[in-house]
Amino acid sequence: MNKIVIAIDGHSGCGKSSTAKSVAKALGYTYIDSGAMYRAATLHFLNNHTVLTNPKDVKKGLDTLDISFQVNPNNQKQETYLNGLNVEEEIRTMRVSDYVSEVSKIKEVRQELVAQQQKLGSKKGVVMDGRDIGTVVFPDAELKIFMTAAIQIRAERRQKEILEKGELIELDKIINNLQERDRIDSSRAESPLIKAEDAIEIDTSYLDFENQVEQIVSLAKERLAEK
Ligand code: DC
Repeated sequence: MNKIVIAIDGHSGCGKSSTAKSVAKALGYTYIDSGAMYRAATLHFLNNHTVLTNPKDVKKGLDTLDISFQVNPNNQKQETYLNGLNVEEEIRTMRVSDYVSEVSKIKEVRQELVAQQQKLGSKKGVVMDGRDIGTVVFPDAELKIFMTAAIQIRAERRQKEILEKGELIELDKIINNLQERDRIDSSRAESPLIKAEDAIEIDTSYLDFENQVEQIVSLAKERLAEK
């Protein structure tokens, strides 16, 4: 059976990962959270006190970095592992969120993670979300989506997500973190966050979740029929 690659890019906190997960489930595809890979690399650097401005130190960090995903049999959720340890919760904390954009700016980090992402998607049948999936990782993806949403709504969603994990963070702090990450992600020299020319833009501010998933699944089915 034919399979395609679906690339979902957009700003932080517009619901890319929950949408991508549901789209993957509906199509029987594999979901790959590229942001989790940048977060795991960030946690690894934090744990090792890597000096980001020292290329030798960064290389040493990358040489000892092993990221993998495993499905938790208890809840069927895909979880992130760093050097054999489950870090799914730790990579979502503010400690990592505050630092991740700095790590994502580093060329050598991007080269390594992009190569790993391309390998993970080489057999197609994947939905990958991130910032540069449709532009750099899979420029030939059959379906590219660019998701946006109003900042206040994105912050409220992120606050709820963090609260479900037991951490209460003020909305202003989350808004600042999102704005700062947007600024760095969009202005960095290495594969900045931009909408691919052939991406379809979806503003999720007032969209019903089921509806936005359905929209992407139908587009995927159209692309599959064209193959
Ligand atoms: O999707 P997320 O918010 O969990 O991503 C965390 C950070 O990782 C985000 O601020 C930018 C970076 N990132 C990236 O640079 N490229 C990607 N493909 C995915 C994430």
